[in-house]
Amino acid sequence: MFPIIAQIPKAELHVHLEGTLEPEMMLNKASKNGVALPYRSVNDVRKAYRFSDLQSFLDLYYLGVSSMVDKNDFYDLAMAYFKKASSQNVRRAEVFFDPQAHTRRGIDFSTVINGLHDAAIDAQDKYEISIGLIMSFLRDLPEESAMRTLEEALQYKKWIIGVGLDSKELGNPPEKFINVFKRARDEGLMAVAHAGEEGPAEYVWSAIKLLKVSRIDHGYHIFDDDRLSLKVSQERIPLTTCPLSALRLNHIVPLNSFPIRNMIEHGFVPTINSDDPAYFGGYINENYMALGTELGLTLDEIIILAKNSVFASFMSYEKKRDMYEEIDMTLMELIENERRIS
Ligand code: ADE
Ligand code: ZN
Repeated sequence: MFPIIAQIPKAELHVHLEGTLEPEMMLNKASKNGVALPYRSVNDVRKAYRFSDLQSFLDLYYLGVSSMVDKNDFYDLAMAYFKKASSQNVRRAEVFFDPQAHTRRGIDFSTVINGLHDAAIDAQDKYEISIGLIMSFLRDLPEESAMRTLEEALQYKKWIIGVGLDSKELGNPPEKFINVFKRARDEGLMAVAHAGEEGPAEYVWSAIKLLKVSRIDHGYHIFDDDRLSLKVSQERIPLTTCPLSALRLNHIVPLNSFPIRNMIEHGFVPTINSDDPAYFGGYINENYMALGTELGLTLDEIIILAKNSVFASFMSYEKKRDMYEEIDMTLMELIENERRIS
């Protein structure tokens, strides 16, 4: 099982670039930019990463983000993730970024987007990976702030594939953002949203019905509502689940209760992703591996999960077809090799 996880081509559809900020880079950038952080060493940073819930994580996430100031900082952050993802055979990465986490502390939108876009271009040249940027709105800020951000982003529209919704979910339902999502969709952008991570099933209903999202990020509370479960499975609305994140934020504990097998068996389209790998102890392959170990995932289940990631992505039909083929070829080669050895 383990060689297949590392070798299988896959898509990552739920990762926040700001959540890939490793403690080493955070401390380097903070020192370069003269930003004061309450940590003296990498060890101090890691020791602080004990979360009780989403908010206790978000507090440290926004603190870490404050170390990033200039275009090179955003370039370096994104490039480090693309390199790592590519080394794990991620061939398609649809990555979130949170512009308001930067503009609200005085960083220009153009600084952020130029750094991330340059890194995406260079990574696509250098590695075997294709990249899409998804601009996420912070749902604990008002819709007017999201709308201003969208208006500013539209001059860079060709560099962005979609919009998302993240940050503190409880008390910030999708209906707060109907207008900005409609405007984004009218401009041809795809829509996704975090829903049912800590919020109730009703938030997933409104993300689907009112924001008209193409995927649900997390979606753990869908299973509290039978009618919603039926809708999500019958319409094959993909779920971007994040096992180590759910564990570390106390959404699903212990990990062997993570319902991935149930989802597959009941016709859902779950995918495996890392969310904020620098904070939750692992990139995408470590997430596959953790579930593989805890649940004894079969080869078939791993292949289904990798193919789901292709199905759920915003790639063209042709690219999806090529990647399905590549997955099958990788599987065949692996089986042939194992036969030859034994
Ligand atoms: N921002 C970064 N990671 C997040 C998560 N798991 N939920 C909501 N907002 C986030
Ligand atoms: Zn997330």
